[in-house]
Amino acid sequence: MSIQSCVTIINEWDIVAARQLGRNVAKELGFGTVDQARITTAISELARNIYLYAGKGQICIDKLNETGKAGLRILAADDGPGIKDIRQVMEDGFSTSGGLGAGLPGVKRLMDDFNIESAEGKGTMIKATKWLR
Ligand SMILES: Nc1ncnc2c1ncn2[C@@H]1O[C@H](COP(=O)(O)OP(=O)(O)OP(=O)(O)O)[C@@H](O)[C@H]1O
Ligand SMILES: [Mg+2]
Repeated sequence: MSIQSCVTIINEWDIVAARQLGRNVAKELGFGTVDQARITTAISELARNIYLYAGKGQICIDKLNETGKAGLRILAADDGPGIKDIRQVMEDGFSTSGGLGAGLPGVKRLMDDFNIESAEGKGTMIKATKWLR
């Protein structure tokens, strides 16, 4: 079972809205303040990437409940230019925009599960899950 709500990311205010949605859902699920901060930071990075590289996309927050295990899943999806070399963008310090290149590797570290699907010209879909324990 899962309940989902989404924020369309077009401008910088939408990044704030996505963070707030994530924090509310994390609180509802019973995540502590440290995990709430991890989740909102991950959402910020993914939303900022959508804004910067794809121009437009969506952040959806799922409440997961799989065989008694509760969790929160962030889904970040866009129809932007996509990513040619996924291994490269997952390396610390790789950036095509003069950024720190810390966003995606950071999200992977902050969350429990991380999955990225992307191809050049085909957009990007990233799923990142935090389990409640
Ligand atoms: N949604 C996306 N669509 C297309 N390319 C992306 C997307 N997200 C990330 N990328 C590519 O992956 C690279 C690495 O992203 P990452 O968030 O790790 O670092 P950054 O955005 O360059 O810098 P930082 O997030 O540290 O400010 C980006 O420079 C960009 O080339
Ligand atoms: Mg980034």
